[in-house]
Amino acid sequence: MRTLLVTGAAGFIGANFVRMLVRRQEPVRLIAVDKLTYAGNLANIQDVIDNHRVIFVKGDICDAELMGRLWDQYAIREVVHFAAESHVDRSILGSGPFIQANVVGTQVLLDTARAKGVDRYLQVSTDEVYGTLPEDRPEIKFTEETPLAPNSPYSASKAAADCLVRSYFHTFKLPVLITRCSNNYGPYQFPEKLIPLFVTNLIEGRQVPLYGDGMNVRDWLYVEDHCEAIWAVLNKGRVGEVYNIGGNNEIPNRKITETILDEMGKKWAESVQYVKDRPGHDRRYAIDATKIKRELGWSPRYRFGEAMKTTIQWYHQNENWWRAIKSGEYLQYYNQQYGQR
Ligand code: NAD
Ligand code: TYD
Repeated sequence: MRTLLVTGAAGFIGANFVRMLVRRQEPVRLIAVDKLTYAGNLANIQDVIDNHRVIFVKGDICDAELMGRLWDQYAIREVVHFAAESHVDRSILGSGPFIQANVVGTQVLLDTARAKGVDRYLQVSTDEVYGTLPEDRPEIKFTEETPLAPNSPYSASKAAADCLVRSYFHTFKLPVLITRCSNNYGPYQFPEKLIPLFVTNLIEGRQVPLYGDGMNVRDWLYVEDHCEAIWAVLNKGRVGEVYNIGGNNEIPNRKITETILDEMGKKWAESVQYVKDRPGHDRRYAIDATKIKRELGWSPRYRFGEAMKTTIQWYHQNENWWRAIKSGEYLQYYNQQYGQR
């Protein structure tokens, strides 16, 4: 049976990926490693660990000795690397942890894969490495050839990791693949990101903090579509290649906010608070996903309206999950970021 190392498996997308493979009964043994930072939550995958479908190891990907041991103990031959510090606003407060987890962590995994051997190594990256697009040129989107031009410490650390991955293909012939996806939404997303933050604030009867003029545009993709795309690239992608993943679903933040308010029966005037813009806030992201469609036959299956309803419902039905987060260490961050409200 194939043995797959999934890093960051207790985070938002990693957990959805692991849950999807288990649900579909894919014939793979899953070794899930996660440091359980503030964003990692064992509750996201506890049931599949208890059912002996996933082997969980609490650990840091920067720990070279541990990574080597995992390779030997479980005969790892494939890697899907999700683990990262992932929140732009936190990277503005301090970039150190981003360089450590995203750059050094990737270097340790690459060196371990190189020393111990690997059949496929997939780096989960982001469209944010390409920088920002002009809002008055809708015909321009990010392709795999778009030069890297990261604008936040988060995206700079992800771009640095991508460059390292690329170099291990060219220099050492390591069989790597890189995916660059647009903004995800869905169950288990940490409530510091736009959609779960706004939904949970509204359930709590609080206002939602909209940055700047609220007209920044993101290309939103349901997390399950992202996970399916990663699985397609892992199985069928050409090594050494980059694959963009996106929903062809550009939406300004104001429209996202309206969609959430409508679905939750809330009024704009009493619910939305415009707050100071994020420094260096990228104006627009848009993905051209022609390559993955043409080569691997992937395209998104979920429609935005329906998947948003499912997502909002999930946060309604899982209050214990996010209330535990919002009352913990996160509260301190929230007050620092948005002030006490
Ligand atoms: P997340 O913050 O929810 O999860 C990240 C996970 O990595 C957490 O469980 C955390 O504990 C773990 N982790 C962090 N540092 C670690 C370390 N040193 N060792 C082991 N584990 C560590 O993030 P996410 O939204 O699930 O994103 C997963 C990946 O997908 C990231 O690489 C991110 O850059 C990329 N990505 C995210 C999006 C998005 O919209 N969320 C879009 C495109 C790409
Ligand atoms: P976010 O979910 O942080 O993802 P990213 O910055 O990686 O795209 O933010 C999505 C968009 O929502 C982005 O344009 C910033 C904006 N935003 C707000 O307006 N208010 C908020 O409180 C947050 C967290 C984000």
